[in-house]
Amino acid sequence: MLAGKHVTLIIGGGIAAYKSLDLIRKLRRAGAHVTPVLTRAGAEFVTPLSVAALAGEQVYQDLFDLKDETEMGHIQLSRAADLLVVAPATADMMAKMAGGHADDLATTLLLATDKPVLIAPAMNLRMWDHAATRRNLAQLRADGVGVVGPDSGDMACGEFGPGRMAEPDAILDAIAAGFASGPLAGKRVLVTSGPTHEPIDPVRYIANRSSGAQGTAIATALRDLGADVVFVTGPASVAHPTGVHVVAVETARDMLQAVHDALPVDAAVMAAAVADWRVENAFTQKIKKTTQATPELMFSENPDILKTVSSHELRPKLVIGFAAETENVVANATTKRARKGCDWIVANDVSPATGIMGGAENSVHLVTAHGVEDWPRMPKTDVARQLADRIAKALT
Ligand code: C5P
Repeated sequence: MLAGKHVTLIIGGGIAAYKSLDLIRKLRRAGAHVTPVLTRAGAEFVTPLSVAALAGEQVYQDLFDLKDETEMGHIQLSRAADLLVVAPATADMMAKMAGGHADDLATTLLLATDKPVLIAPAMNLRMWDHAATRRNLAQLRADGVGVVGPDSGDMACGEFGPGRMAEPDAILDAIAAGFASGPLAGKRVLVTSGPTHEPIDPVRYIANRSSGAQGTAIATALRDLGADVVFVTGPASVAHPTGVHVVAVETARDMLQAVHDALPVDAAVMAAAVADWRVENAFTQKIKKTTQATPELMFSENPDILKTVSSHELRPKLVIGFAAETENVVANATTKRARKGCDWIVANDVSPATGIMGGAENSVHLVTAHGVEDWPRMPKTDVARQLADRIAKALT
């Protein structure tokens, strides 16, 4: 996917810059040409020599370096690439990009380019959470800039939280997704995944045993076929897929809102195990054991997201629901298809004895208007690939 592609890699000033050296190696191993641009702050963290040696190309550093201007003008440099990647993208770099500044080579290239731009933010968690960075991020997204990461974890500054630059493999996946070709290139597909959490009080919630593994595998398989994937996930226990647009939610109502926001799409794959009910009288303070009576929870029905999408004025061409059943799997799935108004139902038996929920394998039945197909038991990643192939056939 990356062979022969030209990537201009702008290395900003952050401790994560060392990871960009590894990214250069990985890009080159995948067959891409890397033109490195080092900001003044970036050069405090990695040396031009190591960057140039790994890239096998000259490092561009200064807007007013006449030698560079005679060899390759900055406008030409900004357009010669197929993609511009900023890694690490500091809070300051994001602010400059959002504001349209062009006061050094990197920002000038980013303003002058007519090519897609992908950023891998990296900064202290307070800086990431700051309202200004939030605003800048929203602006950059609205401007069509792709964003990968940041991850949560231990930070070089000693704190813990979101702000770590995405790992080079994840950045590589996101770059590959940007160049995606395949039967689903140009198609936008929504995938819902994972459980939902329905709060009882600020610290307790109702959930289910969905791991998010099947939905994650489906998002990945769709991405690999070139789809632009919006992945709306509840609090899953498996890692988010890379190279897709992740929207993390908690409750069924949050998920409905995120799904609404994602429309229109060409296809929707609703693999989430959405809670059917929520606690209507969720407590605003933690329920204390000392209270006289045992607490009484009142339930109300959650919105049915699949049904809503199936009857939406922006209904996708293909709507796929899931049916996790513990008995009469195919019969229940067949009636569910009609009741929900979706095109296909992927049905599976989630009785504990099957080991499917939370496990690595799945055994599904595909229920369509034409009948029922029984697929053999196989890894969830294979189920995902087969389903993605079928989706590609249905959409093209
Ligand atoms: O009604 P049931 O939960 O058995 O149907 C399962 C299918 O419906 C799944 O595709 C699930 O994602 C979807 N669903 C939903 N919103 C709900 C409940 C289920 O989208 N509130």
